[in-house]
Amino acid sequence: MEKIVRTKVVDLLKSDVFDTSVNVKGWVRTKRGNKNVNFIAINDGSCLANVQVVVDVVNFDEDTLKKITTGACLSVNGKLVASQGQQKCEILATDIKVLGEADPNTYPLQKKGHTLEFLREIAHLRPRTNTFGAIFRVRHNMAMAIHDFFHKRGFFYFHSPIITASDCEGAGQMFQVTTMNLYDLKKDEDGSINYDNDFFGRQASLTVSGQLEGELAAMSLGSVYTFGPTFRAENSNTPRHLAEFWMVEPEVAFNEIEDNMDLAEDFIKYCIQWALDNCMEDLTFLSDMYDKDLIERLHFVVDNNFIRLPYTEGIKILEEAIANGKKFEFPVYWGADLASEHERYLVEDHFKCPVILTDYPKEIKSFYMKQNEDGKTVRGMDVLFPKIGEIIGGSEREEDLEKLTTRAREMGVPEKDIWWYLDTRRFGTAPHSGFGLGFERLLLFVTGMSNIRDVIPFPRTPKSAEF
Ligand code: 4AD
Ligand code: MG
Repeated sequence: MEKIVRTKVVDLLKSDVFDTSVNVKGWVRTKRGNKNVNFIAINDGSCLANVQVVVDVVNFDEDTLKKITTGACLSVNGKLVASQGQQKCEILATDIKVLGEADPNTYPLQKKGHTLEFLREIAHLRPRTNTFGAIFRVRHNMAMAIHDFFHKRGFFYFHSPIITASDCEGAGQMFQVTTMNLYDLKKDEDGSINYDNDFFGRQASLTVSGQLEGELAAMSLGSVYTFGPTFRAENSNTPRHLAEFWMVEPEVAFNEIEDNMDLAEDFIKYCIQWALDNCMEDLTFLSDMYDKDLIERLHFVVDNNFIRLPYTEGIKILEEAIANGKKFEFPVYWGADLASEHERYLVEDHFKCPVILTDYPKEIKSFYMKQNEDGKTVRGMDVLFPKIGEIIGGSEREEDLEKLTTRAREMGVPEKDIWWYLDTRRFGTAPHSGFGLGFERLLLFVTGMSNIRDVIPFPRTPKSAEF
């Protein structure tokens, strides 16, 4: 076969250099036709659309044609010609090499219309479907948007560790990291595990958040963000929780809570606008397939100011709703942690707009949040989104050493684990704020998918770590 430089389908479909020889490589989506001519739709992942290859049957041997089945991988040389069909061009094949066959009896993606549940069981092959090709291209684009947003604003991408000995959120939902022989654990007299001979010489875990290290960085570089995998061993089997998810965490010296809210709102809008500007083919497909109002909702978020509201006001609204007959599964009272049903009521039914809820009771928030003068609430903020609930959690940080240490003690965070964090308050402390955006929650919103397992390539959830 003559060696011609490969052109990606995305570029072929834009090309109008007709009657030139081209090479395309990709996987067969469909093959149809009759005994004289075959039409093969080839997809190479570079975009949603396939390119059509036209095969004049007399020019090819029967054996090759037989191997061209759905899922097979081909290299095709041919002439790029203008087409009468939906696309402006197609390829008249001159030479076809089957790079990899796919047995029609066992290749699982024969027909269209598999359920998302079935596709989760073949997560190694699902990127070959239109749906998951679209989702993972959007995922890439959102990662680029994130870096672009922060880079343009002079933030530095700071790499916080994945293995850590401190529990940032203090929620005790960490996966342990050990090289100890679990069949032969050495224990002290009192029955507690002795970590002296473990790899790190102490108990270590996978991080739940890069925030504490991000704060150290903000106290020197000024404006930073982390963007990496985080891990939570919370046993919540919901459409919005993963055991391994990606989080974006900006942290900014001298920012107060209002600046933090402005940053969060600008940031989300920038990412969504990026999707509208760069992913329209994929978004349109996802909208047609799964969520008719998707594009409209994306525009709505970009075009409207988020509502900003203290938690206490939010509780009043929920209590009024209950008084007017609204039923919730979980109780509402001042001091309660809001469940997703409450968050979604505020956003979807009451305000019909994204909401930033602030000034939460200190009991339901982490030790590091800045305490308000009322002694009851902290300067925390959650950004609540339609269909998602909480998409961002953040706060102004407590910069006062005394208050921070007391709160850590009250909440059972051992000082010996965070002495280095407390040092930032000892040496040149300053007001600062930050937040964490759940990357997959953003993707749920942008793609219109409804299960978080469908926006990450290989989801990790309770009892599930295949692939
Ligand atoms: O609200 P969270 O727990 O906040 C923090 O971890 C802070 N340290 C962030 C910071 O201030 N730098 O988590 C932040 C976000 C949530 O709003 C949610 O979007 C996402 O992370 N998130 C999850 N996403 C998927 N699966 C889970 N189990 C998640 N837990 C949190
Ligand atoms: Mg939170």
